[in-house]
This record gives sequence, structure tokens and C-alpha cells, in this order.
Amino acid sequence: MRLAGRSAMRLVRAIPVVGSRFGAPPRLDLDGRVVFVTGAARGLGAQIARAAHARGARVALVGRTLGPLEDLAAELGDGAASFKADVTDAAALQRAADGAVAAFGGIDVVIANAGIAPPSETVATIDPDDFEHTVEVDLLGQWRTVRATLPAVIARRGHIALVGSIYAFFNGVLAAPYAVSKAGVEQLSRALRVELAQHGVTAGIAYLGFIDTDLTSDAFADEHAAAIRSAAPGFITRPMSAEAAADAVLSGVERRAAQVTAPGWVGPLLAARTLTTAVMDDVLIHNPRVNGAIRSAEAVASQSDS
Ligand SMILES: NC(=O)c1ccc[n+]([C@@H]2O[C@H](COP(=O)([O-])OP(=O)(O)OC[C@H]3O[C@@H](n4cnc5c(N)ncnc54)[C@H](OP(=O)(O)O)[C@@H]3O)[C@@H](O)[C@H]2O)c1
Repeated sequence: MRLAGRSAMRLVRAIPVVGSRFGAPPRLDLDGRVVFVTGAARGLGAQIARAAHARGARVALVGRTLGPLEDLAAELGDGAASFKADVTDAAALQRAADGAVAAFGGIDVVIANAGIAPPSETVATIDPDDFEHTVEVDLLGQWRTVRATLPAVIARRGHIALVGSIYAFFNGVLAAPYAVSKAGVEQLSRALRVELAQHGVTAGIAYLGFIDTDLTSDAFADEHAAAIRSAAPGFITRPMSAEAAADAVLSGVERRAAQVTAPGWVGPLLAARTLTTAVMDDVLIHNPRVNGAIRSAEAVASQSDS
């Protein structure tokens, strides 16, 4: 009888999607865990660190300048330590990972958050160094973060959360290297989720809409990015608070979720991505404000060339 029960459960687990409900890894409560966050000096990363610490986690704050990380560590008090690492530097990330393990005894959760926005240029006009540096930070920086921390996360059967964006499936007009990176991050999270399942480790991506941080205000200060923004419905470009975004990311970690979406409208758009992708690209092609922004970006580039 018990044998029949076990065979039935094995059969149920083999059914895609349904099976995962019956074989889901246990919840990962943050209380007492060690969370390694990149880009923790400000914006979403700092808020994730604050919120994880408030839920009882010890936090390894990782970033390229120690000063603001140390200020945040002092604000949080016990259970917070800072580590200097630029995510373009694999050796520095390894030192940060080793330092976090030495300070806290291990790493349960990695949040690959550090990111930048590129200048609002077209693929034709952007400085090649700007394009490639964006991919270096936004995509390869996440891969390097994962690679440096993976043995520690496997040892703790933990979770890896990659901070993605709606740009993983939105059109990246005037932000191509950012969208290319976030689409790559999505694939990284999917491969990790399957490759690490046998180790009891989970991985997921957060598809986040606009957040009220420096990254958004700096990007929208550019007239071409502002023109693209004005062509989109207001509910899409209205930024959510960093607190709301951090809460969504951490709730996803606790559920070991493969996907996190925020704010509320992102989930339905993601679910209908085949349709929304086709419609969005067509709408953008025919939008006069978008076309004006592209022409203007090209004109500015050709003026500075001549
Ligand atoms: N803001 C949005 O609307 C939005 C939407 C969806 C997803 N996201 C994603 O959320 C993440 C955080 O963005 P944010 O909005 O919080 O931006 P932010 O306020 O500009 O903060 C970015 C953080 O990343 C760090 N960083 C940048 N380059 C780095 C590097 N090479 N090495 C190490 N750290 C580096 C920055 O460090 P410094 O302080 O030293 O510059 C800063 O702490 C990014 O992955 C972004 O793509 C943002």
C-alpha cells in the first residue's frame, strides 16, 4: 500500500507544473539566514538589505564603494557587514563571497541586484563602450555574482534571486543593452533553477516595473527617454516605491519562487507576453513620439560626429 502511494506521488511529481506543487522545496524563512546583496549601497539593493535585516536575516552588503555600505551597516547594527566588490571584477566578488562566509558562517540567499541604465541612444548611435559596459554590469555582473557564491549557496540549500525587469520582455527601444541584459538574466535564472534543483537550491527572477530610485530619475531626466515614457500608458511608467519592490523580491525568496512580478499589472502582461510583445512592438513602430525620440537621438549623435 505504501509502495503504491510512493509510486502515485512519483507519477504526480512528473506532471509539469502540477508536480512542483507536491514536490516543492520547503519555505525559506529569512529569520537567521545570511543574505548576500550586490548594489546594496542605495536604491533597491539598500532597501532589500534593510527589509531582510528587519525579517531577522544577517546581511552581506556588497558594492563598489565602501563608504555608503559602511553607513548602511552602521544603521542596521548587529548582523550587517560590508564588502567592496565591483560586479565587473570576478576576483573581487570571490573575495566578497569568501568574506561573507568567514563573517557569517555561510550564505543562504544571493540577491544579484547591482545594475545601471545605459545612455538613451539607439543601437546605431550608442558608444560601443557604453553598450558593452551595460551588459558587463547588468548581465555578466549577475553571472559573476552567482558563480562566486554558488558553492556557499549549495552548501546551505539556499536560493538565488536575480533582479530582472519588465525589460526582459518589453521592447528595449533606446535602452537595448539594458533589455538585452535583462532578457539574458531571465535565461540565467531558468537554467539555474533546473541545474540546481538536485542540490536543493532554488533560483528565480523578479520582473519589476519602474521603481522610485536614482536609476529611474536619472534615466527619465534624458529628453529621449522622457519622450518614450510619455508614449507609454501612465500606469506602466508610474514608479513603485523601493519598499514595495523590496518586499516583492523578499516574499519571492521566502516562497523560493521561480518568478516574482511587481507591481500588480506586470503579472498579467508577462502571462500574455506572446501577444503583448507583438502588440507593443507594432504600437511603438507607429508611435510619433517614439519615432521623434529616435530621430532626435540620431540627430544629436550626427551633430556631435560632425
Ligand atoms: N529603478 C527601476 O525602475 C528598476 C526597475 C526594474 C529593475 N531594476 C533593477 O533593480 C536593480 C537596482 O536598481 P536601482 O533602481 O536600485 O538603481 P540605483 O538606485 O541606481 O542603484 C544601483 C546600485 O547598483 C550599484 N552598482 C552599479 N554598478 C555597479 C557595479 N559595477 N558593481 C557593483 N555595484 C554596482 C550602485 O552602486 P553605486 O552606489 O556605487 O553607484 C547602486 O548601489 C538593477 O538591477 C536594476 O536593473 C530597477
